[in-house]
Amino acid sequence: MARRLPAGARLVLASHNPGKLREISALIAPHRVECVSAATLGLLEPEETAPDFVGNARLKALAATRASGLPALADDSGFSVAALGGAPGVVSARWAGPAKDFALAMQRVQAEIGANADRRAWFTAALCLAWPDGETATFLGRVEGTAIWPPRGERGFGYDPMFVPLAGSRTYGEMEPAEKHATSHRARAFAQLLAACFD
Ligand code: IMP
Repeated sequence: MARRLPAGARLVLASHNPGKLREISALIAPHRVECVSAATLGLLEPEETAPDFVGNARLKALAATRASGLPALADDSGFSVAALGGAPGVVSARWAGPAKDFALAMQRVQAEIGANADRRAWFTAALCLAWPDGETATFLGRVEGTAIWPPRGERGFGYDPMFVPLAGSRTYGEMEPAEKHATSHRARAFAQLLAACFD
């Protein structure tokens, strides 16, 4: 059984991505856990050298818990397209280049899909809760949908404007945060984390 975070615990959110921090903070807000971001503590972001989401989430959570002495929560996530063999996947952030230009990243996805009629896509999120003694617990969430073109909506972040979840007609970029959280990969991983590790 995974170790549980007691009410009132301090938790480091080991992410420097403002979009993810916003979403994870909103998911944690109803629970009695005090969150502090890795950036606030001046922690450095380790290189994401693992080949998969779970490996990268572990590596980020372990780096943050070791540097801070507090339990740490990290997310590694990405956008995958069936016609591209699951790309961009773990390198989703890199497709946006150094300027973090996701309009460009979405254009690349569209260009690589080309005339392929298979538009199936999904988001994956791995969450890892790590403790200063090296214990970790990881959880994986996924949401299936369609990669649409052109992108629609100004909300969310990253690839949200080009993703329509199954059984929906609007993109994540067009949804209110609460509506996205009702189905999202991150919320699904978070629900498992909550059940296993939060009091
Ligand atoms: P990383 O987990 O820091 O490697 O970055 C994952 C990247 O995947 C983000 O920068 C986004 O581009 C993309 N991504 C992950 N989750 C979402 C999401 O909920 N919406 C849109 N894009 C996402």
